[in-house]
Amino acid sequence: MAVKWTKKDLLGLEGLSADEIGLILETADSFKEISQRPIKKVPTLRGQTVVLFFFEPSTRTRTSFELAAKRMSADIVNIQTNASSLTKGETLKDTAKNIEAMKVNIIIMRHSASGAPQLLAESVSPSIINAGDGSHEHPTQGLLDMFTIKEHKKKIAGLNVSIIGDIAHSRVARSNIWGLTKLGAKVTVCGPATLMPPEIEKLGVKVTYDIKEAIEGADVINMLRIQLERQGQSLFPSIREYAMKFGLDAEKMKYAKKDVLIMHPGPINRGVEITPEVADGPYSVILEQVTNGIAVRMAVLYLVSGVKERIE
Ligand code: CP
Repeated sequence: MAVKWTKKDLLGLEGLSADEIGLILETADSFKEISQRPIKKVPTLRGQTVVLFFFEPSTRTRTSFELAAKRMSADIVNIQTNASSLTKGETLKDTAKNIEAMKVNIIIMRHSASGAPQLLAESVSPSIINAGDGSHEHPTQGLLDMFTIKEHKKKIAGLNVSIIGDIAHSRVARSNIWGLTKLGAKVTVCGPATLMPPEIEKLGVKVTYDIKEAIEGADVINMLRIQLERQGQSLFPSIREYAMKFGLDAEKMKYAKKDVLIMHPGPINRGVEITPEVADGPYSVILEQVTNGIAVRMAVLYLVSGVKERIE
């Protein structure tokens, strides 16, 4: 691929071209093999310092970024935000300026406020990687989802991808929509009207409130978690009713294609958006998504680091 990575930060997939997304996926493909070696370590990022700066809980993203950085021999610092001087009134920008003064190279940030990583990217010189900001974007999740789809389907362009659930509060949905549509997939979003953002069609997606319609003909179904922590009010009558109407179960799977891929970014609410028999069933690639998260995050760390020589 002729395109070269020129960006300091990775804030979202909205700002990337199809070629830049393709470059990350191609780079991830070449990094995946490292995690299958008996000794899972290469010196690619030796001498680089990576800071994990997470203001919200995380299992998958935090662990896979840490493993990705460690497998490339970077030095890692974890900032415990609830034990940092932010609790004494220091601003986010001042904290970041102090981290910058310690000559770190990359800051990976998760924050409940949409736009927080962008604020840091404009304020400090280290590369900023968005690990999820509010309801805005979760670019590495979108990338690992596309990587997993491509591994199975050998392409993205022309595929029918349905994203089902809490679209309004989902940064995963937004990053998937930006990335998939740029690469030529046909995206359908489905969920209760109260969890559908206004004018979402303007992002180039089809909207349906009928889960059967979203399932039929889909090559990929990506189920989203109900983001109760980001909802200020009750937006559907009950969890039970939501599960009956929008949860994916064996009965609704009867409408699915025989080679459908079932995805979920995690964490799963079993029995709410997806039943255990579907989450753990033959069409599920949920744990493959987690495995692929490491290769994708290695690729992102490598590209934003600006390290020219790839040593393995
Ligand atoms: N998919 C995802 O972002 O999971 P975590 O919240 O565990 O990082």
